[in-house]
Amino acid sequence: MDAQHSALNTRKQQATPRGVGVMCQWYAEKAENATIWDKEGKQYIDFAGGIAVLNTGHRHPKVIAAVTEQLTKFTHTAYQVTPYESYVALAERINARAPIAGAAKTAFFTTGAEAVENAVKIARSYTGRHGIITFGNGFHGRSFMTMAMTGKTAPYKRDFGVMPAGVFHARYPVPEKGISIDTALESIENIFSEDIAAHDVAAIVLEPVQGEGGFNVVPAEFLKRLRTLCDKHGILLVADEVQTGFARTGQLFAMHHYETKADLITMAKSLGGGFPISGVVGRAEVMDAPNPGGLGGTYAGSPIAVAAAHAVIDAIEEEKLCERANELGAELVVALKDIQRAAGDIVTDIRALGSMVAVELETAEQAKAIQTYAMEHGLLILTCGKYANVIRFLYPLTIPAEQFRHGVNILKKGFATLNDATAKAMEQFA
Ligand SMILES: Cc1ncc(COP(=O)(O)O)c(C=O)c1O
Repeated sequence: MDAQHSALNTRKQQATPRGVGVMCQWYAEKAENATIWDKEGKQYIDFAGGIAVLNTGHRHPKVIAAVTEQLTKFTHTAYQVTPYESYVALAERINARAPIAGAAKTAFFTTGAEAVENAVKIARSYTGRHGIITFGNGFHGRSFMTMAMTGKTAPYKRDFGVMPAGVFHARYPVPEKGISIDTALESIENIFSEDIAAHDVAAIVLEPVQGEGGFNVVPAEFLKRLRTLCDKHGILLVADEVQTGFARTGQLFAMHHYETKADLITMAKSLGGGFPISGVVGRAEVMDAPNPGGLGGTYAGSPIAVAAAHAVIDAIEEEKLCERANELGAELVVALKDIQRAAGDIVTDIRALGSMVAVELETAEQAKAIQTYAMEHGLLILTCGKYANVIRFLYPLTIPAEQFRHGVNILKKGFATLNDATAKAMEQFA
């Protein structure tokens, strides 16, 4: 590590708590589309996308133009005090596009956790019930309610005391891992018989593709049967699309891949193209359950972030980023299959929905070794999964083809370092 970054790391250690865990040892200086430069001028290809925030890349020209224009008008009024048309227009655009049955309404917030918290509030208000069912290995945020909903103790809930009551975890169906659709549904029935009566449950909250949990894609049949179960008991179905939304999976929302409709959908991350905004869209009558004043927040639906979100939707539609997500995802899967053939047992699974692509390795150490190699060679990638043994890809969908291939080649070479046999088989990529 160079002197500048090492001095900054010392200052960071002294000035900021270790609980804010940081992956890189270097510091960002500037970024453009799929490239980040550090303070020394070294370039990195960004396959992390600020954790799924940058489907439209760093500083997308449309986003920057929209935000710049908004800066000349006003930056904050508090929507609940003085409203602005752009918020209403963004809600109209989301309502017209979200896979919600019938009339829809949308409210905006700031972070993903806040969107999930508000979906819970809306569901409780509509049903008059308190119980929430989520899934093992799911991730919903770091606020207290969303911590409780998250299906992973370390590092998210550990040492943070008693979680809010009324949250229960079912098993997420991953048939390839022995958790069949029947087993997953049975785990919900068990919650009804052992923990909370079905008629006390307000909502079941599910990620259509688990993000932090390892990019597990929910089977269509499970969703269909879950909807039937929800309808039987008057429970709302909430899709947490904070990570899956805005073209990542090859559709605007991952729920567009399924016939089954959720009552509420949470969104954040790539909605703002780098500016903090989140939202809940849902069936109009459900969204209208909380009384005036029950929803909102000082910065909720900031005019700057709303302007960015309009530009993000324009970019997705005008630049056909859903199609691009499918093309890039398909190309990456082909490359990962090459790697799997060469690396043999090291690669235990490849999962993909559009550009929500992940490769699972035998161990966390292997995933870490690839991540370290990639970083040293100018490629930023993230891991995920219950055992941190999954590498996930969240590159901007606007990435130039050549840069994308360059990133994939670094990855291939990284795998070649894992063992001699892989190295030999990978010689073709040298
Ligand atoms: C599915 C899902 N829900 C909620 C969140 C929380 O979002 P935020 O970190 O913006 O609070 C995340 C963040 O990774 C997520 O992936």
